Amino acid sequence: MLAPASGHYQRLVAVFASAVERAGYGLIISPMFEDIAVFARVGESTDVVRKEMYDFFDRSTPPNHLALRPEGTASVVRAFAQHRPALPFKAWYVGPSFRYEAPQAGRYRQHHQLGVEALGTEDPDLDVEVIALLAAYYCSLGLRRVTLRLNSLGDAVCRPAYRAELGAFLAARADALCDEHRVRYTDNPLRVLDCKKPPCVAATVDAPFQIDRLCEPCAAHIARVGEGLDALGVTFSVDRRLVRGLDYYTRTTFEFAAEALGSAQDAVGGGGRYGGLVEEMGGPPTPGVGFGCGIERVLLACDAEGVDLRGPAGVEVFVVDTTGGAAARDLTHELRLRGIGSDRAWDQRSFKAQFKAADRSGARLALVVGPDEAERGAVALKPLRGGGEQREVARSEVVDEVETVLDVQR
Ligand code: HAM
Repeated sequence: MLAPASGHYQRLVAVFASAVERAGYGLIISPMFEDIAVFARVGESTDVVRKEMYDFFDRSTPPNHLALRPEGTASVVRAFAQHRPALPFKAWYVGPSFRYEAPQAGRYRQHHQLGVEALGTEDPDLDVEVIALLAAYYCSLGLRRVTLRLNSLGDAVCRPAYRAELGAFLAARADALCDEHRVRYTDNPLRVLDCKKPPCVAATVDAPFQIDRLCEPCAAHIARVGEGLDALGVTFSVDRRLVRGLDYYTRTTFEFAAEALGSAQDAVGGGGRYGGLVEEMGGPPTPGVGFGCGIERVLLACDAEGVDLRGPAGVEVFVVDTTGGAAARDLTHELRLRGIGSDRAWDQRSFKAQFKAADRSGARLALVVGPDEAERGAVALKPLRGGGEQREVARSEVVDEVETVLDVQR
């Protein structure tokens, strides 16, 4: 990723970091690769594990079977089980995930996620906190057309009976399912509900849904999550088909979609609650809830909605020097010493070429030194954005003057 996109990426991370740190989440930095067993636990029947993991053997004897991280939750849970921090444990992360998927717009083999995981309580208000944080994040960036879907996948009490009911429902219609699910629906019947192919959609119109078959505690839990979101003004719709692509979820699941992306790759974030993952990683039974938010997708959504992600810093002043370059050398240095972002052109380019570069730099002011200005001991100060007249300032006063002008505009 090159500038300016990389600058937008940094800004997305910075805005996220300050929002979640203010809510009590601490940064966790987990390894990019781990024992494959850590990631296999996110779901033996999922595409992420079955088809998309980058795995390899290292040089140990016997060799370790390792995999590149396909998502963030497993590593956080593994670290929690290993280090046993105090509860509740609230962590945030940013970093690359690797999935061997068919690359297309918005779907990459290396993508980057921002995420949080909060472990240690079943309290549905924590689900609300996590979901509301992500909703507020999109909003704070300036995204306006992001929608939230919510579902509950039940728990170990009510899921088995529901799964059996759905399995029997699908068995009676197996011939009508898509090619893949006709043979694979028994691996995880719930995944058929998430299949976008017309045969599966048509065959499951009147399928039973988990959210209508919840045990009493699960029903109370999702009801409280809905009430909390309503109370905080976070708009959502219940999507009975929302299953998600990983196996560890119990109870709450959710997904945010950016309407402006208008494609199959419109999920800008998603997550939910998980029950058994910590135990599976060798820790004490500890529930958790979290989300992952795809940075590249958010960048695409911002682009599609015309959101300006330029940060306040960067190059603020561009020095155009047609007297040989010494004035540009000295002025950029002096400006930077004062903390003012500045840049210049090289190789004694023409006046026109230097102004083109000034425009591209995003600077708000150009300082122009031509032979006439140099002779008068002056610098021309030309606003590049927001209008205003060009005027001349004494060379000895120009840095102070730039500081004053930018302070007013900042
Ligand atoms: P996920 O839905 O698989 O969930 O991924 C989270 C987000 O990462 C997606 O909503 C999407 O924005 C982005 N994403 C996923 N795959 C790609 C890709 N190939 N290219 C570009 N962006 C992608 C998880 O990974 C869970 N760990 C979320 C979670 C955290 N659940 C509980 N805690």
